[in-house]
Amino acid sequence: MAIIEAKRLTKIFGADPKKAIPLLDKGWSKDKIFAETKLTVGVNQADFAIEAGQIFVIMGLSGSGKSTLVRLLNRLIEPTSGQVLFNGTDVLRMSPEQLRQFRRKNVGMVFQKFALFPHRTVIQNIEYGLEVQGIDKKKRREMAMESLELVGLKGWENSYPDQLSGGMQQRVGLARGLANDPDVLLMDEAFSALDPLIRKDMQDELLELQAKMKKTIVFITHDLNEALRIGDQIALMKDGSIVQIGSPEEILMQPANKYVERFVEDVDLSKVLTASHVMVKAETITIEKGPRVALQFMRDRGISSLYVVDKMMRLLGVITADDAVHAIKNGLKLEEAMQREAPSAVPETLLHELFELMSNSKFPVSVIDQSGRLKGIVIKGAVLAALSGNTVLEAGERHETA
Ligand SMILES: Nc1ncnc2c1ncn2[C@@H]1O[C@H](COP(=O)(O)OP(=O)(O)OP(=O)(O)O)[C@@H](O)[C@H]1O
Ligand SMILES: [Mg+2]
Repeated sequence: MAIIEAKRLTKIFGADPKKAIPLLDKGWSKDKIFAETKLTVGVNQADFAIEAGQIFVIMGLSGSGKSTLVRLLNRLIEPTSGQVLFNGTDVLRMSPEQLRQFRRKNVGMVFQKFALFPHRTVIQNIEYGLEVQGIDKKKRREMAMESLELVGLKGWENSYPDQLSGGMQQRVGLARGLANDPDVLLMDEAFSALDPLIRKDMQDELLELQAKMKKTIVFITHDLNEALRIGDQIALMKDGSIVQIGSPEEILMQPANKYVERFVEDVDLSKVLTASHVMVKAETITIEKGPRVALQFMRDRGISSLYVVDKMMRLLGVITADDAVHAIKNGLKLEEAMQREAPSAVPETLLHELFELMSNSKFPVSVIDQSGRLKGIVIKGAVLAALSGNTVLEAGERHETA
């Protein structure tokens, strides 16, 4: 079950906001509604479900409704209509006490402007939320220290924010968001104010934290590369509406419309797509077969080489038609005639790292998993097709082997 679900979630700003709802139903645009009614559409009938443990990225240009949407989830902004479900419970029907508990136990929030108190020490900043919740002094110090260690700031607890770099200040913000050990962390442009290199470090650390703690994270950014890097799912917003939700790969390879297309057209696919995206099925033969079988097999399929594997599909070498002919003439076994020096990569290898491997080799690059099993091969044509934006192979086609 989804941990968070939004159903036709809508926010209209202005006097008498509900009167815009029937206009949205009629399909009026944000601009038209503003022109006719002076009401601003913040979020327009958003529908989505976030699975526990996912990083769900909300992306879009300035003013598209990202911050509004994320604040509707914990009712920092009150929705005009629609539903928010948390583990199946309707957040909009919670009593004030239930809502207080929900915010205290279930959600944490991290903002772009670190929003640290300058006259409080690091640890006092981290404790702030816990203090507001009335957690006693000893307990909250304990929780805050744990959170501080998690973000790698041990030793800095008694420093003041202005003694820290921007990246460290953002860590304090992150630690504060994590201090109550929430199920869901809402992050609104949390890394946007950081230098590019520090930003990349923070992304890595967030991914690490996520792997360790299995939090559900709703992450807002207007940076596509950041979204592609950390998102399990990406929701792209325009004028308050979600125009597409999908995995990074789906957003890149199957943009839902011209707007999404324009958003993704400048992405360097070679730094996003991996070997697993472009590999194709490899023709294989098991090691105990003879060179005659190998040669026959190649002739039948009109190919000039085969990947030699054991029964577990572990890659042992490559045999070409010439090698097989040579083996037959000289009475050699397959394993004596095959070549062992074929280039290989792991499924996660990025395309731009594959280029060099490919240019130095007469064979396609083989793709091998952690236990040495052959998952597929990368041929130049497939890489070029993917880079030119053509759809890569269906998932099913990628993994089978003969
Ligand atoms: N309190 C408010 N009163 C009136 N209009 C608002 C209010 N807050 C947001 N809006 C409007 O709602 C729309 C969405 O704003 P929002 O702040 O959610 O965008 P955003 O995608 O987070 O933008 P940014 O990238 O600049 O942070 C905008 O048109 C904005 O002007
Ligand atoms: Mg915003």
